[in-house]
Amino acid sequence: MKETVVSGIRPTGNLHLGNYFGAVKSFLQMQNDYNCYFFIADWHSLTTRPKPENIVNSARTILAEYLACGLDPEKATIYVQSDVKEVLELYLFLNMNAYLGELERCTTFKEKARKQPDNVNAGLLTYPTLMAADILLHRAVKVPVGKDQEQNMEMARKFARRFNTMYGVEFFPEPQNFSLSEKAVKIPGLDGSGKMGKSEGNCIYLMDDEATIKKKVMKAVTDQGPQEMNSTRSEVIENLFTFLSIVSTPDTYQYFDEKWNDCSIRYGDLKKQLAADIAAFNAPIRERLAEYMANTELLDRIAREGAEKARESARKTIDEVRQIIGFRK
Ligand code: TRP
Repeated sequence: MKETVVSGIRPTGNLHLGNYFGAVKSFLQMQNDYNCYFFIADWHSLTTRPKPENIVNSARTILAEYLACGLDPEKATIYVQSDVKEVLELYLFLNMNAYLGELERCTTFKEKARKQPDNVNAGLLTYPTLMAADILLHRAVKVPVGKDQEQNMEMARKFARRFNTMYGVEFFPEPQNFSLSEKAVKIPGLDGSGKMGKSEGNCIYLMDDEATIKKKVMKAVTDQGPQEMNSTRSEVIENLFTFLSIVSTPDTYQYFDEKWNDCSIRYGDLKKQLAADIAAFNAPIRERLAEYMANTELLDRIAREGAEKARESARKTIDEVRQIIGFRK
């Protein structure tokens, strides 16, 4: 039997190359090796009051993007959180044994509370319980998460342990972090900052077309060029080379590496090549994305079938949890 993996996807914005070479690529690998449940965390998003007209569309867009990248509903169970209401019952049970003090101490809560002081709601406070419920609902043993989620994972393990101890059972496994940050290739920003990220405002999106990509790449920060043969590269130039090593052929990389070493490099040429190679990388994904986006019926069917599969697994857990707690099945 394959081990079970659960991961939640925040339905915020569009995927950029940093996401692709981070979380998305890990998901693509994991769907082959594990029994995966990937869901779009639309209930979690209510902590920040999204507009009603955006909820369904945000979920559809992010679903289309992951599918376009190669997430496969034949291999993984892909669903929208709000389609699997079983998670709410587990959320309630877990909340009954989640203590105010420990929830208040979470750094993610404190940060959010600081960011939105006029809306410090109970959903924000109990975000770790809902996340634990997402994971424990399928009795997952592994969860691919970034560094920022480690405390939430601690909480999930604590809630699992607490339930087991309280009822004298070995029901929930303690879910382990499957650290994304260690395995992922880090995509640099082209603005001199170390990494590509939404908050850095330096993203190249998977849906960007050739002209947009070119504009972004041509603006990349550079330096005054190599001053002597075979010198070490400054960070901004190394970033460009890192990018080349990811999206271009080894020959292309070698070509510019040699040009660097003999001081004949022209950054304009390097950028043009890089822009063309990124555009070529994006092209098939963009094409598939356009197809999915034009076919909401297909997207909705995939989501519906995913939800059915997820509910099957969820039902089993909830039935047993109810019995353990002392309810009728
Ligand atoms: N909290 C995660 C994030 O902000 C999203 C998430 C919600 C999640 N539920 C989850 C991730 C369950 C892993 C497992 O990115």
